[in-house]
Amino acid sequence: RMETPFANELMTNFASEDNHAAFADALALVRAELGKEYPLHIAGHAVHTSDQIISINPAQTDEIVGKVSKASRELAEQAMNAALTAFESWKNTTVWERASCLMNAAALMRERKHYFSAWLVIESGKNWAEADADTAEAIDFMDYYAREMVKLAETNEHKPLVKLPGEDNRLSYIPLGVGIVIPPWNFPLAICAGMATASIVAGNTIILKPASTTPIIAYKFYELMVESGMPADVMQYLPGSGAEIGDYLTSHPKTRFVSFTGSKEIGLRINRLAAEQAPGQIWMKRVVAEMGGKDGIVVDETANIDAAADAIVASAFGFQGQKCSAGSRAIVVADVYDELVEKVKDRTSRLIMGSPEDNAAVGPVIDKSSFDKIMKAIEIGKSEARLLIGGNKGLEGGYFIEPTVFADAGPDDYLMQEEIFGPVLAIAKAESWQEAISMYNHTEFGLTGAYFSSDEERIQTALQDMHCGNLYINRKCTGALVGVHPFGGFNMSGTDSKAGGHDYMLLFTQAKLTSIKV
Ligand code: SER
Repeated sequence: RMETPFANELMTNFASEDNHAAFADALALVRAELGKEYPLHIAGHAVHTSDQIISINPAQTDEIVGKVSKASRELAEQAMNAALTAFESWKNTTVWERASCLMNAAALMRERKHYFSAWLVIESGKNWAEADADTAEAIDFMDYYAREMVKLAETNEHKPLVKLPGEDNRLSYIPLGVGIVIPPWNFPLAICAGMATASIVAGNTIILKPASTTPIIAYKFYELMVESGMPADVMQYLPGSGAEIGDYLTSHPKTRFVSFTGSKEIGLRINRLAAEQAPGQIWMKRVVAEMGGKDGIVVDETANIDAAADAIVASAFGFQGQKCSAGSRAIVVADVYDELVEKVKDRTSRLIMGSPEDNAAVGPVIDKSSFDKIMKAIEIGKSEARLLIGGNKGLEGGYFIEPTVFADAGPDDYLMQEEIFGPVLAIAKAESWQEAISMYNHTEFGLTGAYFSSDEERIQTALQDMHCGNLYINRKCTGALVGVHPFGGFNMSGTDSKAGGHDYMLLFTQAKLTSIKV
């Protein structure tokens, strides 16, 4: 299977009646499983605790999706010991054995695609297309990292050495050790699977601490990996609170690396904790951190204004703006400002709010604390800029918030500087395209950006000057594809670890040079 070149998983066409019916069946299957209890997994053994994390449906908050056991520090210590023991054998497996677990998992997930997507719909509040894209990306990550690790281990494609007569020189990429993997809730399958499998295919063993709002989907992923041939002790499934076990594991002397995706605040905390040498620790921990964004779309007066308005609305409100790639700012040149603002307002007004299970365009935000934080940001926004549309909470019964657009935002406003991680878009006016680009760069983040123009010279300047990890021209700034758009950002957006890029594997390995005199 690895002989065939990598190809991205196709998105499901829900206009087809068959696909529509198959997805509805998958939702019914998942519905029948709601409310169950799930244990931790340490050294391959299920561990039940009396303390639990309750996962609820964000669209219907009185509905329990499932209950997972919650790890204490003692259990975290047991998980570390299990991962250390497992590392001693897993590091000696061949890359083919490890890669085949990922390939098997990708194949099984492809077979049960709608089942996984249905869990995403109910546990994270994604609509069908967003959930389908999340599952497709999880499949892609596993397929892609399997191939890339084999390439790194078995070929010289990424490691050409200068030849020296009389010596046989080789570079090999060996695993690091035990990693703590802390994925986010906003791509609870794709990013969880990508971070976890990149670590293990490289020969590391891990402790997976899933996001507390989406632990069930992570559990389903853990089960799939075991079914796919991964020894059950290679990955410890360990839900728990950041304060209780996250800090403990990050500071642990035996932790070799931490792979984190989430907020800037937690990323900086992990970086700080990981920087200290704990007693008995003999390495510098490696931190791979994907953090926030204050991404933006710049539109000049030569742009196709309809295409720009479509992209702005899609980038701002896809999954309720809960993406680090979300286009939460639009910076528009004065000549076309009023026209574009009207078009954005019009398109936003046509977004239908409703249940993710009914495939509504606008669903809930993830939990109460997000809901409160976003509503607070909207209040701040009202004092800074002109509320164009939205601004209120939405449907009752879930964490719904209206897609909200502010116009006439100033470059230093809270709305233009702080990551809100919700359905809130700020539009700012620039006098010229050059000023628009510098307003775009006026942020501590640098994850994604887009520039809309038909002027080749300006596009060249934008390509050079807009400072972000993923820069798109004349298209939306979300939806990076594995292998096609390696994803990761600059500055406070993280360590620019390019997920879905070939060099991602280098982050979970260390290079050993061997030289034999012949
Ligand atoms: N990779 C996603 C996107 O590009 C965000 O995590 O939208």
